Amino acid sequence: MIELKDLSYVRLGTADLATAETFATGVLGLEVRERRRDALYLRSDQRAHSLCYFEGAPEEQIIGFEVENTAALDAAAAALEALRHKVRRGSAAEAQARYVSEFINFRDPTGNQIELVTRPQLSARRHFPSRDAGITGFNHVGLNSTDPVRDEVFWTQVCNARVSDRIGDIPLMRINAIHHTLALVQAAQPGIQHINHQVAEVDDVMRSYYFLREHNVPIVFGPGRHPTSGARFLYFKGPDGVVFEYSCGVGEIADEATHRPRQFTREPLSFCMWGATPGGLIPGV
Ligand SMILES: [Fe+2]
Repeated sequence: MIELKDLSYVRLGTADLATAETFATGVLGLEVRERRRDALYLRSDQRAHSLCYFEGAPEEQIIGFEVENTAALDAAAAALEALRHKVRRGSAAEAQARYVSEFINFRDPTGNQIELVTRPQLSARRHFPSRDAGITGFNHVGLNSTDPVRDEVFWTQVCNARVSDRIGDIPLMRINAIHHTLALVQAAQPGIQHINHQVAEVDDVMRSYYFLREHNVPIVFGPGRHPTSGARFLYFKGPDGVVFEYSCGVGEIADEATHRPRQFTREPLSFCMWGATPGGLIPGV
């Protein structure tokens, strides 16, 4: 079993780093950690970085998870290779470009690029956001899945994800106490379905709602409240069509041993108990 400890970063390819920086700092509200010739590193919490835009194709999207140590990384590589996943070891230069000690790269059954890393770096410097969006940290990601039932088996049986709740066939899965760190949403191709940052309170969600409207940022879902995690949320579109989410109050699973996933119906109210329609985010609902 591969033990995922935490979410470390998202890497997004883009042909236009300047537009990505304008969005990340002026709209999303992250802190620039470092600019390199071909990459932009952004912070949202104590992590040295949690989002990296790099010069590349927008289809190049990668999610990094932390594992315990080198032994765990080696065991993960062996387990994935035994299941016929092609595993690539990152070079020292590539690890340095991710602020980690070592990493491996592979694809999940849908084809999403996943990286497992050791010793992701933190920064002792307090996160100092570029815009007062109220961001308290990088929290979770939604992943496209060409077969959520199949991919749930991969994430729960090969990795240590546990299903907290399901909406239809969409599993909301945790790797620690947080209600979900990963969700799998039906799609025709691999990709990141959304990237979540937590904000401090519902006032931040609503302030951003008006801010984004004023700045003509496309809002795709919300404001609303998820009946699953209890989070108050807002989803909007960034460069290259990548969807970002602000939310606050995402719940925790108090009793790991006895929690049973709840099954919600696949209807709009299961995504938003206030009545916002998720059609812009979840096609066909
Ligand atoms: Fe979310």
